[in-house]
Amino acid sequence: MEATASQSLRTEATASRVKIVIDCDPGHDDALALLLASRVCDVVGVTTVSGNAPLGAVTNNALRVLTLANLEVPVHAGADGPLVLPADGVVPHATHVHGATGLNGVTLPEPGRAQSGDDAAGFLIDASQRYPDLWLVAIGPLTNVAHAIRRDPVFADRLAGISIMGGSTTGGNVTATAEFNVWADPEAADVVIRSGAHIRLCGLNLTHQVETSAELLERISAMATSRARFAAEVITYLHRRMTELRGRAAAALHDPCAVLAVTHPSLFEFHRLPAAVELTGTLTRGMTVFDQRHAARHVTPQIDVAFHIDATAALALIMKALEA
Ligand code: BDR
Ligand code: CA
Repeated sequence: MEATASQSLRTEATASRVKIVIDCDPGHDDALALLLASRVCDVVGVTTVSGNAPLGAVTNNALRVLTLANLEVPVHAGADGPLVLPADGVVPHATHVHGATGLNGVTLPEPGRAQSGDDAAGFLIDASQRYPDLWLVAIGPLTNVAHAIRRDPVFADRLAGISIMGGSTTGGNVTATAEFNVWADPEAADVVIRSGAHIRLCGLNLTHQVETSAELLERISAMATSRARFAAEVITYLHRRMTELRGRAAAALHDPCAVLAVTHPSLFEFHRLPAAVELTGTLTRGMTVFDQRHAARHVTPQIDVAFHIDATAALALIMKALEA
């Protein structure tokens, strides 16, 4: 049968969309990143990692968010803790921000299906073999990604790139110097940064440029879609939490930035810089270090560090993804 014009247009649009796999720990901003990704690219699968909350909770959250997003892709659970446990033996979480469930304060449908497996690293490797030019968007601690790199020496080279939300060119959010995703598994971040992969990094210096506001919340609350209702709950929760933690009802939309760094790179200003993760410092463990000296211009590894984003355009794309 001959394809109709609209069918072939749809196929063309799909064919030209970038393919991504998302490694995440939902997480309020992870959830918004999943909703955004479902609209702006082809998501071939989702893997989950212990991070904002324990692995079981974040996997359940991912399944429920994907059900809301109507995105039927495989979900594989991965690591339930970092490569190296902290000295106190306690797996790090960000429940002080996201609550015990990782997604406190929101209503979501029951998961439409069960997880597809529990070998996230294996799934990431398979996906890299199956889809040429695949981007990996990593928006939680980098444990699964490090496992995949260690298991398959050409995994990193096979990918088009890895877009990471993590680190900072300025200060941290868990300690004075470290951002949560890197701090929660510094050894994994070190493996990933030294892997030779093409890396784009959105750190806190960048993600704090894309902030929610009372006005944005009002606009989202006025949209009559189930996605928008959920996003309004997410932002309402974050505003309450940020008011308690920082005295300001505004939340940085960290994880959606790492999706946009793949789908809309022209919104960003990147600088390719030598990068490293501090593993030993008493005050600096988990800090990302970028060498901007002219004398260091040939030092490796180098990654693309995001310094600026067109926040108005980024927020408009996030809003658009909440439409019916
Ligand atoms: C990062 O940590 C998590 O709490 C968020 O989901 C985001 O990925 C910000 O530091
Ligand atoms: Ca996250």
